[in-house]
Amino acid sequence: MRVAVTGSGGRLGRAMVAALEEAPFTGPMGPIAWSRPSLDLDTITEASVTSLIARDRPEVVVHAAAWTDVDGCARDPDLALRRNGEAAGVVARACATAGVELVLVSTNEVFDGTRTDGAGYRPDDPVNPPNAYGASKLRGEQLARAAFEPGASATRGDARLAIVRTSWLYGPPGNDFPAKIAAAALRAKAAGEPLRAVADETGCPTYTPDLAEAIAELLGADALAAPGQPIGVHHLVNGGRATRASWAREILRVTRIDVPVVDVPGSTWERASTPPAWAVLEPTPLPSGEPMRDWREAFADAAPALIRGLPRA
Ligand SMILES: NC(=O)c1ccc[n+]([C@@H]2O[C@H](COP(=O)([O-])OP(=O)(O)OC[C@H]3O[C@@H](n4cnc5c(N)ncnc54)[C@H](OP(=O)(O)O)[C@@H]3O)[C@@H](O)[C@H]2O)c1
Repeated sequence: MRVAVTGSGGRLGRAMVAALEEAPFTGPMGPIAWSRPSLDLDTITEASVTSLIARDRPEVVVHAAAWTDVDGCARDPDLALRRNGEAAGVVARACATAGVELVLVSTNEVFDGTRTDGAGYRPDDPVNPPNAYGASKLRGEQLARAAFEPGASATRGDARLAIVRTSWLYGPPGNDFPAKIAAAALRAKAAGEPLRAVADETGCPTYTPDLAEAIAELLGADALAAPGQPIGVHHLVNGGRATRASWAREILRVTRIDVPVVDVPGSTWERASTPPAWAVLEPTPLPSGEPMRDWREAFADAAPALIRGLPRA
């Protein structure tokens, strides 16, 4: 199976390429990495994606490229809509017309996060983005759906669309929540102060290599959508849930940074974007029947690289 990955230099993109290199179904040629020079969200057209498809002949595209700076999106919602909405639609239409399957990576931030019943969001729950980033990702979902709906394209054939929503991603090359918390904790310790961490945001920390493996599992099992359906929606996150503060405590425990953590509300920090308070997705079943592992177990695998990156005492 020839699989192309957009945003292949990003956090998920590089994990996706690595997972596909190991997958038995990609063959000796391995995956096709499309980074910014070959696919720029600011300049792509349906014609440019069509010629990329003609050149590299993928059977599936995993669209992981996106503008993920949520505060940047809040400051420039039109640019967010173009990069995460319209550009995703362009990729989807080019794929559908060429009969190429598409995995569109999306976010929990299509949901407003006001849920209070303790349950995670399910694929069919009503969407209502709380911020410009979520609105732009939802627009991408809608345009991709329109491209893959039956009858939308003369040449779609059996090609399907999988919308994969996930949350709170972290993983190599770092510069993620764990790295930022560890750095902030070291600064707090040097200043003799506690670390202040947000206690009123809850989500599912998700390790990018685990998400990439789960997407590869969907591809390998031909399970992008339910049998006979053109479109599937998947919620792929590590198991369990955490507040930002409880995740911070786990980060300090495994890195052995000894500094007290004080719970604070998110409103302590003024931000351009409004993060959803309840960023929890209910995981959808994977073909193997095995759920993605608990976030603490996944984080234990990520910890050695985090610890290696810390400045020596
Ligand atoms: N991060 C999260 O917590 C999170 C949560 C839920 C869903 N998601 C979704 O998961 C996917 C992967 O996210 P990630 O965490 O891997 O993001 P990331 O590390 O920020 O990577 C984003 C990728 O998109 C590329 N990109 C950004 N702007 C571009 C542009 N104008 N033209 C072409 N490429 C561009 C980047 O290219 P360069 O390397 O050249 O900058 C990078 O390769 C995205 O669809 C995101 O919306 C992320």
